[in-house]
Amino acid sequence: MPPVIGAFKRSLLVRLSLGFALTLSGLVGASGLFLYSSIEHIVYTQINRDFINTAKLLLHKLDDDRLPLDKEILDVGEHFSVRVTDLASKVVLETHGMDKKFPPLCLPADPGDWLWTQGPSTPDHTPRSLRVRYHQGWVQLSRDLKPEETLLREFFQSMLALLAIAPVIGAAFGYWLVKMGLKPLRYLEDEAENLRPENLGIRIDSHRLPTELAPLSLALNHSIARLESAFARLSELNSDVAHELRTPVHSLRLETEHILASGHLPEAAEEQLAGMMDTLDHMAALIEQMLFLARSEDPAHQVEMLPLDVQDLLDTVQEPFVSLAEESQITVEISAPPGLTLRGNATLLRRALHNLLANAIRHSPPGSTVSLEAASTPEGLTLAVRDRGEGIPKQFLATLGQRFVRTDASRSRKRGGAGLGLAIVNGIAKLHGAVLRIESEEGVGTVAKITFQEF
Ligand SMILES: Nc1ncnc2c1ncn2[C@@H]1O[C@H](COP(=O)(O)OP(=O)(O)O)[C@@H](O)[C@H]1O
Ligand SMILES: [Mg+2]
Repeated sequence: MPPVIGAFKRSLLVRLSLGFALTLSGLVGASGLFLYSSIEHIVYTQINRDFINTAKLLLHKLDDDRLPLDKEILDVGEHFSVRVTDLASKVVLETHGMDKKFPPLCLPADPGDWLWTQGPSTPDHTPRSLRVRYHQGWVQLSRDLKPEETLLREFFQSMLALLAIAPVIGAAFGYWLVKMGLKPLRYLEDEAENLRPENLGIRIDSHRLPTELAPLSLALNHSIARLESAFARLSELNSDVAHELRTPVHSLRLETEHILASGHLPEAAEEQLAGMMDTLDHMAALIEQMLFLARSEDPAHQVEMLPLDVQDLLDTVQEPFVSLAEESQITVEISAPPGLTLRGNATLLRRALHNLLANAIRHSPPGSTVSLEAASTPEGLTLAVRDRGEGIPKQFLATLGQRFVRTDASRSRKRGGAGLGLAIVNGIAKLHGAVLRIESEEGVGTVAKITFQEF
């Protein structure tokens, strides 16, 4: 399909603009034609009426007069020239200079009493004549139709010019009108675009839409409400399941520990039990993360915010990692301007930075450096964790921070992560009115940045 036809079929804007162009052209063309033919009719009817009235006047005068005829007879208005001939067609009297403009007419064999003739036309003249019989000969009445013809032609040309620009004006007007008409849809588009799991409480304001779109906005609002309640139920289910699993996993772990501690087990069984312990630890951590997320989303959950020294905060985050970093031959460095403070919850922020640092160390090659950075920038106060590791493939960057998103499912599971670490960081950032951003380039490294607008 040619692209123009494709655009016509798909685009409302193209279709309606073309429709406007065609309609306006049709209207201008039809009304122009009607106007032109009406005016032409009126002009020529009036001219013919003038001819007849003048001829009647002349006949009346000629009936009264006797030969020689008075020159005054020729005085019938500026438009007409008059020629009076006798029965042998000899000119008796004529308007001065008439023979050049309107030569005597050749009469047909039986001309009748009234004879109309037109032409022959020249570029400058369009003669029209009426020859009428009177008792002693003929009277020829002539006038030039050129001025009326010129006027009509100019009118016709103006009409053609209007017809030529009508489609352009129609298309432009249609385009503008449709653009204006589609504006409310753009509002709907923006609202739909902004819909996220975390702001399902928003509703489309039908007052900002024309009446015709009210049913659509109502239907959309119903759908959003259904989504919202489904999400709420899902969250509840998440936290309920985590709650229900917590106690049995805990007791399983205790029992396994107990059996292991009792000793006298074959080596193979001991190994298997140790593996079970690892799995149970992993499950306990997962359950704890899910519960944490559920709590942080609960609107009734209040967190205490206090002024914190940023350098102290980073120090306490780094401490638990000292031995792990040494083991992996990774240097952890802290760079924070002294005296920088931040209003927040120390436990939560420590946990968020802990998750980021754990990720950074996990993904760094031996011998490299991981940095914990704090800075006051024009956008706000930022806490960042930077590594020079393998980086994150581009396609994951947009979804990182959502639950259970892992860049390499099999590898992550082997290394212990379930894909909840960054979701927790995200939740903690939001509780602080801050934003988590992750920038990464494969083979260069990753920076995870929490930016606090108010601190
Ligand atoms: N600094 C990083 N470098 C490379 N990959 C990372 C980094 N941080 C996180 N990832 C990857 O992003 C995914 C999500 O991370 P996270 O939410 O912390 O999950 P997990 O709980 O499994 O650690 C994981 O698959 C992880 O491997
Ligand atoms: Mg992690």
